[in-house]
Amino acid sequence: MSTQTRPLPADRLWQPTTAKWFFTIFGASLFYAILRYHIAGDVSWAHFPLFILNKATSLAAVGFVASSYLIGKMIHWHDADRQLRLVVIKFCGLVGFFMAGIHAFFSLALLSPAYYGKYFDLDGKLNFQGELALTVGVVALFLLMSPAIATLPMMAKAVGGARWKRGMSIGYLTLSLVVVHLIVLGYKGWLAPLGWQAWLPPISLVAVVLAIIPLFVRKKLEHEKRLKEEELEKNSESE
Ligand code: HEM
Repeated sequence: MSTQTRPLPADRLWQPTTAKWFFTIFGASLFYAILRYHIAGDVSWAHFPLFILNKATSLAAVGFVASSYLIGKMIHWHDADRQLRLVVIKFCGLVGFFMAGIHAFFSLALLSPAYYGKYFDLDGKLNFQGELALTVGVVALFLLMSPAIATLPMMAKAVGGARWKRGMSIGYLTLSLVVVHLIVLGYKGWLAPLGWQAWLPPISLVAVVLAIIPLFVRKKLEHEKRLKEEELEKNSESE
């Protein structure tokens, strides 16, 4: 039997670099959830399998989606290898979508006044805050399908470059909706830092910062591009 190992195909999604991304983002999210809610907080370990894992997967979902839109724009670690950079961008986007899907199922399984009393009225129905946050979350998850589908190998050719780019940029709309999802769910807790366990900010606040960064970077890059175009126009007019 041959002991020779074949090199990994360059476009393989699970490879040493993407594994590092996975363990870093998911590991950090899981560590933070355990630290804030089990160690610094008083959530029983009996609620680790669903309630705490839900917090970790939701934070990781935002972390992966945000990273996918920041690699090459703000994160330049893979700039020297274009193919690896594209693989990492695709990996982070798809894992973010996958984690968001898991978070949605986990949340729906947990959705009850016993777990999320603040999103329910006394009659057991969701209150306005709960309904609004869930609607925005569901729309965000469905919109996230667009960039996920656009990563399929044949899609760029099938729909054409401009439409493919538009499909990819829907991720920014998703991130904006996630910001709304998080503000509606979490703003009251953000405004009461005295209630934070060991001064650790709530996961919703950490996630909202992560979701806002790519939106901000996109605006900044667009602004810089516009300035450059205006300068070029001015230069060509004066020649
Ligand atoms: C069907 C779609 C969705 C449903 C039903 C849903 C439901 C929920 C619920 C019930 C919470 C409160 C959890 C808690 O306080 O422990 C929550 C929080 C959160 N959601 Fe969603 N969500 C959805 C989509 C999304 C998407 C697409 C993202 C991001 C990509 C996201 C990210 C988050 C984050 C980061 C939190 C904060 C967790 C925390 O504060 O502990 N959600 N979601």
